[in-house]
Amino acid sequence: MAHSLNDLLARFDDTAPLERARTIPAAWYHDPLLYEAERERVFGNCWLAAGRVDQVAAPGQFFTCEIAGEPLVILRDTHGVLHALHNVCRHRAARVVCEAEGTCTKLRCRYHGWTYDLSGQLRGVPEFDGVADFRREDHGLRPLAVAEWGPFVWVHSGPAHLTLDRWVALFSQHGFEAKMASLRFARRLEYRVACNWKVYVDNYLDGGYHINTIHPGLAGIIDYTKYHTILGDQASIQVSPLSGGPEELTAVRQGQAAYYAWIFPNFMINLYDKVMDTNTVLPEGPDACRVIFDFYFADIDSDEAKAFLERSIAVSHEIQLEDGEICEDVQRGLKSRSFDTGRFSVKREGPGYHFHRLLAQALREGRA
Ligand code: FES
Ligand SMILES: [Fe+2]
Repeated sequence: MAHSLNDLLARFDDTAPLERARTIPAAWYHDPLLYEAERERVFGNCWLAAGRVDQVAAPGQFFTCEIAGEPLVILRDTHGVLHALHNVCRHRAARVVCEAEGTCTKLRCRYHGWTYDLSGQLRGVPEFDGVADFRREDHGLRPLAVAEWGPFVWVHSGPAHLTLDRWVALFSQHGFEAKMASLRFARRLEYRVACNWKVYVDNYLDGGYHINTIHPGLAGIIDYTKYHTILGDQASIQVSPLSGGPEELTAVRQGQAAYYAWIFPNFMINLYDKVMDTNTVLPEGPDACRVIFDFYFADIDSDEAKAFLERSIAVSHEIQLEDGEICEDVQRGLKSRSFDTGRFSVKREGPGYHFHRLLAQALREGRA
């Protein structure tokens, strides 16, 4: 049994070519030491999709989120400037903003009433006269880097060694901005899955290997023989030509191809013609994660469009239940004494090994 983080990290060989590679060891999927390292070196140190631009379109609009145990608030101030702040009061660490989203003119902590302006500066401090060496300007909400790309707001809590544009370069090279430009947000669904966040990501990145077995419905419309993957520096795109199939699926998954795009560590973009959903996989401890699905459509207003989006979301929901069930099963298996590492299909599972290498690199170097 490994007794330190270094022991754990040493147990994965990221230098092997794919045909000789083994997965990260099972302990990486449930060991609390590894989870704490991920919080700091992965989620605390790379660009992360936090929410949508439409949630902070107007001055005063905000949304909150929690990424790997870090409560954050993203808001647009009265000058139109976007801010990302740790949503943790500098007095006793209470959450300052408790609503999921909304509009505000200032941030007031409900515990003892400290108030902050929309850039996070501390403004009001009741009954603090006589406190020695206390300067309000030293007690603002801690900021993170924040930027927009596509319809998404991204945050970075470390010193970003890549700009966001460089980070998402693979998606730009494949025209994602243009493909997403006409789409509008319609609905959010959230799923709690009793598995480590990486099990969910692995499942996404197996190059279609589980489609025929776990998703018999989806399998009918995907031309599996032409399924292929493009690997970038910290992202991958699985391209799946669509081939016709049962009407209930082809009606809501149109176009020449489906794009299943993933960017390290936890964000996926599933793009069809006029339909998109994004998946954000949020760790909730070593053994659980929450997956946020945001659904977008070209038209969300007409009656016909509303009926279409209901059918489309229902298809996605069925697929998600299939994925969630197998991921929970895998998490149980990863705790078995009989399993440590597995091998990769060279034909299919290149994107999964790519993810494991990026993860190991971030954990070892502490930056991404
Ligand atoms: S914890 Fe926020 S005012 Fe005390
Ligand atoms: Fe799946």
